[in-house]
Amino acid sequence: MSEHLSSAEIRNRFLAHFEGRGHTVVPSASLLLDDPNLLFVNAGMVPFKPYFLGQETPPFKRATSVQKCVRTLDIEEVGKTTRHGTFFQMNGNFSFGDYFKEGAIQYAWELVTGDQASGGLGFDPDRIWVTVLPGDDEARHFWKSVAGLPDERIQPRGLKDNYWNMGVPGPGGPCSEIYVDRGPEFGPDGGPDADEDRFLEIWNLVFMQEELSAVRAKDDFDIAGPLPSKNIDTGMGLERVAYLLQGKQNMYEIDTVFPVIERAMELSGKKYGAAGGDGHVDDVRFRVVADHVRSSLMLIGDGVTPGNEGRGYVLRRLLRRAVRNMRLLGYQDPALPELLPVSRDKMGESYPELVSGWDRIAQVAYAEEEAFRKTLQAGTQIFDLAAGDVKTSGATTIPGDKAFALHDTYGFPIDLTLEMAAEAGLSVDEPGFRQLMAEQRERAKADARAKKGQHADTGVYRGILDANGPTEWLAYETLETESRPLALLREGAAVRTLATGDVGEVVLDRTPFYAESGGQVADAGVIEFEGGKLEVLDVQRPVRGLVVHQVRVVDGELPADARLLHAKVDPEWRTGARQAHSGTHIVHAALREVLGPTALQSGSFNRPGYLRLDFGWLNALTPEQVHEIEQVSNNALRADLPVGWQYMTLGEAKDWGAIALFGETYDDRSVRVVEIGGPWSRELCG
Ligand code: ALA
Repeated sequence: MSEHLSSAEIRNRFLAHFEGRGHTVVPSASLLLDDPNLLFVNAGMVPFKPYFLGQETPPFKRATSVQKCVRTLDIEEVGKTTRHGTFFQMNGNFSFGDYFKEGAIQYAWELVTGDQASGGLGFDPDRIWVTVLPGDDEARHFWKSVAGLPDERIQPRGLKDNYWNMGVPGPGGPCSEIYVDRGPEFGPDGGPDADEDRFLEIWNLVFMQEELSAVRAKDDFDIAGPLPSKNIDTGMGLERVAYLLQGKQNMYEIDTVFPVIERAMELSGKKYGAAGGDGHVDDVRFRVVADHVRSSLMLIGDGVTPGNEGRGYVLRRLLRRAVRNMRLLGYQDPALPELLPVSRDKMGESYPELVSGWDRIAQVAYAEEEAFRKTLQAGTQIFDLAAGDVKTSGATTIPGDKAFALHDTYGFPIDLTLEMAAEAGLSVDEPGFRQLMAEQRERAKADARAKKGQHADTGVYRGILDANGPTEWLAYETLETESRPLALLREGAAVRTLATGDVGEVVLDRTPFYAESGGQVADAGVIEFEGGKLEVLDVQRPVRGLVVHQVRVVDGELPADARLLHAKVDPEWRTGARQAHSGTHIVHAALREVLGPTALQSGSFNRPGYLRLDFGWLNALTPEQVHEIEQVSNNALRADLPVGWQYMTLGEAKDWGAIALFGETYDDRSVRVVEIGGPWSRELCG
């Protein structure tokens, strides 16, 4: 290998390589892209999922991106292996029914082994190994014909390694992974099947061709059928390639991560790598700090705030683990104000929103560290009491349930309990503690499974969408339409009629009903037909493009082939919901006027006569602040500010100063910007 390439350079080379081969460069989507099954975007393909599934027509046949990803399944493993980070960037190229196995293999080979002087990554072709799914003779054939790889460096590996899926229902397919041999000093010979430290996976080429209806494990899933076309989805780990090309031992030592370790060394006075050997306990701590500080930065950058569940809880754990590991390294003062800016300086080059949003990011992170410091203080008192009790009773072991309570109620990490117990000459019933933890995890898992189930089966709706195309959606134009039913459903299955008293679902060719979205409740109203009437109970969009009305038959019997229906939104309901929704925009603008631009809405709910706006703030508002926000809002109402909206690209909307809140989509499709009183309130609002 000739030269060390920076992370930015690797990223640029990747995008340029594929742009030069007819791919549209697509910016990274937010980590919080709206997918009910995913906590965070965890692969480059996530934003493109509707294209693979045929739910939407892609605006391009080929695309390439560097996608921000977060995977948090094994937070405890971070720092112990050379290759697991919670945040990472996935370089990807995508074909939507265009090139397939041969093209994917050829493009990958050209980039991986291409000369560095001419834009390639410059890996030695003799050090490249690949794996294929047993029986995938096509892939094997192209690795030989296109890349000239000998048979022995094309290893067959089973479904667990060479079939890729999202871990939840969605697209999937056989894959082929590219590995680099780091050399005999890193492990035994024998290819990736023998040792995945010596043979490091850098790139996964997925031949995306099937839709999975259920996923129980990597190698245990149900295939619902073929996708509408054969596609390519690839993922190259930017951090892994960087550590190979920068001559480092692991992903924590690369140019965008190591500066945090350097600062942590200065602060703690400890030396990274001092004792030699990858597993040294202080080295693991340094790596945890570097990884978690960067991941927290990226998560807060995309709008996550610390909390007790879901995304917020992941962020809270990352921040607290970072702080805690600094303490274990011997640094007791607030650490984030020292470390986070270092990470920002490195990541800001590729993600300028970290620089522009810095004040908000810093505020959120530093407040969480302060709160954790208080927790530590309180937990320490509880611990001292427990330790005292144990000692008075003449025992030497802190019971498992005490350790669990400290953890569960006071957020006190077990390693801290262990350490403090040791200092007090006591031990901890660790097996008892682990047992209680395992039980709690089981409960959480069962909970998550139950939640997932709710979203699992969208196949029926997709069938309707495929057969009829998207619903003509006229909510912004009219309150009444003449419509035709396309499908009647009961309990998720198509039926021929809905009779008096039935509760079911109706899909229409066109509808004036507003489906629940953006915090605004669905419209209420009726659907009339010859000889009867339906009451509309709810309106949802279970798949993009399809509006589904949940109804109760008030009287009559509705046949699936009825010719003419009158869909009528209750005008008062709609007016009330719109007023509440506009009210939320107004309160949001007032909030920002009074508290400053870091006050950002995190959720809302609007229905007639009611509005709720959620936002995260560090302290309770003072009565004066509340009063001022009310005044600003009321003044805006009294001024009867004009309300308008227009469609523009996301880029234009941002230039125009519109606030974009939640995991907005990445492409340049038009977005709807609503303004009240001109620039006073400008928000993206679907
Ligand atoms: N989607 C594939 C992966 O995440 C490329 O590995």
